[in-house]
Amino acid sequence: MSAFPITRLRRLRKNSGFRNLIAETDISLDHFIYPIFISEEVSTPKEISAMPGIKQWTVSTVVKEAKRAYELGIPAVLLFGIPSKKDDVGSQAYAKDGIIQRAIKTIKSKVPELLVITDVCLCEYTDHGHCGVIQNKYVQNDPSLDLLSSMALSHVEAGADMVAPSDMMDGRVGAIRKTLDEHGFTETPIMAYSAKYASAFYGPFREAAQSTPKFGDRKSYQMDPRNVREALHEIELDITEGADIIMVKPALAYLDVIAKVKQQFNLPLAAYNVSGEYSMIKAAAQNGWIDEKRIVMEVLTGIKRAGADIIISYFAPQVAQWLQK
Ligand code: PBG
Repeated sequence: MSAFPITRLRRLRKNSGFRNLIAETDISLDHFIYPIFISEEVSTPKEISAMPGIKQWTVSTVVKEAKRAYELGIPAVLLFGIPSKKDDVGSQAYAKDGIIQRAIKTIKSKVPELLVITDVCLCEYTDHGHCGVIQNKYVQNDPSLDLLSSMALSHVEAGADMVAPSDMMDGRVGAIRKTLDEHGFTETPIMAYSAKYASAFYGPFREAAQSTPKFGDRKSYQMDPRNVREALHEIELDITEGADIIMVKPALAYLDVIAKVKQQFNLPLAAYNVSGEYSMIKAAAQNGWIDEKRIVMEVLTGIKRAGADIIISYFAPQVAQWLQK
């Protein structure tokens, strides 16, 4: 390799033509998923105070938001439901006429080409706010699998294009795959929240989804932020159980995990740019402390550069508008 003065790296930084020509990372809308909240608790769209610009929608108004996303060029949405009735087994999660089942039907009938992905987890539906069923104050793994499988099946029966289990019970991807296959849905993919950490970055989401646990925390099922080998193990198991897309969540404090997963596995890899990551940028931008657009694009580029193929982000509509300009 030659060195200075023969080599001058600034030659290809001279103008945007050269810079774009040699850019190693591209942000394209094709790889974005936009999360949307639908609530039975509100009668008109309600802004989430901890997530400026993000709302809880009603079943009848969510179509508007889904349509807007599709028209902006976002290919997929990820739906979260907040039911008005919660109980200890999360019955509304797998009810035929549950909030999310109705929302899926409405969106698919009005915006059929938009990919509808659903979050599969009990925490928004249980009165205790945990992601599985409780016995002796402990989240029970195996009894939760049946409920999660019923939930996934009911979403797919309502028309969901893909299900995304986020509960972190052991064996849930296999259980859901088996249930879907037994009901003839062999062609419906699963995006597994494989390496999901017990993170404080989910704080604003819990206001949005009203899913804060009433006692304890999620550390007995979500991952310890100190671990990366364990993340690779989780991913390996999910692939064995039939995951089609794997995920690392959150994104920013876990870019090393994203990079390692990308090196070791050949499945499409998603990264979830979570609520806390969104709200921190929004808060700083509202104070005039940072340049929002540049920060967001830099953060998303970082997530891609680390190795994510797909980014799930609340910024998706804004990115779409920025890319158009
Ligand atoms: C449900 C779920 C959570 C998120 C996605 N699915 C919250 C949690 O596990 O407490 C977080 C998303 C975000 O913070 O944007 N289990």
